[in-house]
Amino acid sequence: MFSSTIASILLCFSSLHVQPIASSVPVLVEVPPHSPWPWTLSQGSKWKHQPGDDKHFPPYFAFGASTAAYQIEGAWQEDGKGPSVWDTMTHEHPELVVDRANGDVAANSYHQFTDDIAALKEVGFGFYRFSISWSRILPEGDLSSLQQAGIDYYDKLIDSLLAEKIVPVVTMLHYDVPQYLQNLGGVASPLFVRYFEIYADTLFRHFGDRVQTWITHNEPYDFCVDGYGYGRNGPLVYAPGVGEYLCAHHVLLSHAAVYHLYNQKYRSKQSGSIGITLSGRFFYPVNNETGPDVIDRALNFQIGWFAHPLFSEKGGYPPIMVETIAEHSLLETRTMSRLPTMLPETKAFVKGTADFLGYNYYSSRLVKLDPREYNISSPPSIDKDTGLVYSVDPKWKRAKSDWLYVVPAGLRGVLNWFKEEYDNPVVLITENGYSDDGGLCDHERIEYYKLHLEQLLAAVNEDECHVVGHTSWSIIDNFEWLRGYSEKFGLYHVNFLSPNRERTPKLSAKFFQEVIRTGTIPKI
Ligand code: NOJ
Repeated sequence: MFSSTIASILLCFSSLHVQPIASSVPVLVEVPPHSPWPWTLSQGSKWKHQPGDDKHFPPYFAFGASTAAYQIEGAWQEDGKGPSVWDTMTHEHPELVVDRANGDVAANSYHQFTDDIAALKEVGFGFYRFSISWSRILPEGDLSSLQQAGIDYYDKLIDSLLAEKIVPVVTMLHYDVPQYLQNLGGVASPLFVRYFEIYADTLFRHFGDRVQTWITHNEPYDFCVDGYGYGRNGPLVYAPGVGEYLCAHHVLLSHAAVYHLYNQKYRSKQSGSIGITLSGRFFYPVNNETGPDVIDRALNFQIGWFAHPLFSEKGGYPPIMVETIAEHSLLETRTMSRLPTMLPETKAFVKGTADFLGYNYYSSRLVKLDPREYNISSPPSIDKDTGLVYSVDPKWKRAKSDWLYVVPAGLRGVLNWFKEEYDNPVVLITENGYSDDGGLCDHERIEYYKLHLEQLLAAVNEDECHVVGHTSWSIIDNFEWLRGYSEKFGLYHVNFLSPNRERTPKLSAKFFQEVIRTGTIPKI
């Protein structure tokens, strides 16, 4: 792939001082037993990390890249796959997506996954985070609808990765809830918990002999708030102020149920790790009037909503959420809080059920308290509950995505907040990336990664945050949800106009090749 595009890439070289490509295959070696991470995830490179060396990532630190099923696979109704909420939404409401695009074919990874693996290998990534399409293997959610072809597809993908010494990191659910389950209420229904457990059991049974790193849910804040609160994203459920809290509750219960299931049935044989991936920004004060309590409030309403029940010493939802939402519910003359109650036994069931915290970092915001009184005459929502107003610093550069302002220091800020709040948990950065128009000479993406890796390195080496890896979003260009194919995050360009969906490395792929080869951040 690299050689075929050498001419176009050479054009970019004049201003980028990376070495010409040398094939680098990650070497898997054992890391010391005290390592917090399954040794298979470590690239065990020749990085010379001496005590006091703050330029290199530690030897246990791994680099990987990420995708999600609906965004890359295509084959939306092949081999018995049933529709997910995203198939339904893009087909029934094409007007909601830029260019009326959808994931029917996407990057065609269902048929071209070996091209994705070739790309991962070429860069030298040690692991690949991908998601499984629930409706491809259990279109009706449970075992009565098991599709062997779906199992076979993921078997091939996992085996091919392992053959290249690339460790599979599997997300169980990345937004694409089976439509069949959505008809029963989806994640807002308590039924969801049992279905998710059956699904996870199926995954452990079929793939757990080879997959040791599992992520139950991806970015529940985003799909609960947009999908079940504001109804502006799949599955388009409009119930602001209520639906998002129900959804989140079942995310937490289903996550914990799967963790307990793994402990009871699989952990002793498969010895893997189970985590969850959360999203969230870091927050900075608008001016002196915004105190640390306001920053903390913002972080708790976003990340703490999920992290506090799982990682805090006390468990349960953050007290600030419990108090505020109960108060607002009372003002609205409700007889119960819109935030579901976590009884002591539920708190205990959820608390401590994660071996690591997956975290997606992209951007940050300025924040201040909303000076207005709580207004009961407009519909409730999580944003009204927070009582905060967000803004951006005009100095922050913006990517193609209208929400993606470049604030590298925010990554270090959040990692230190995790350290303080949750006693320095094991963190895997499960996504980090930059959107643009998709050109091969992606200097801005390289700049973004360089600045973020610098902050990460400082968080690991200076602040001693327990971060074990970094995952780029994404290895290839893909379907960016409501933005269709108009915003590109890939390290590899995908030609969406060609039936062969050729993958071509961008300059950022070379940048990562250099990071991985040296264990440090190259000068650019
Ligand atoms: C996070 C989501 O997990 C992923 O699906 C999405 O494409 C990226 N953010 C970029 O928006």
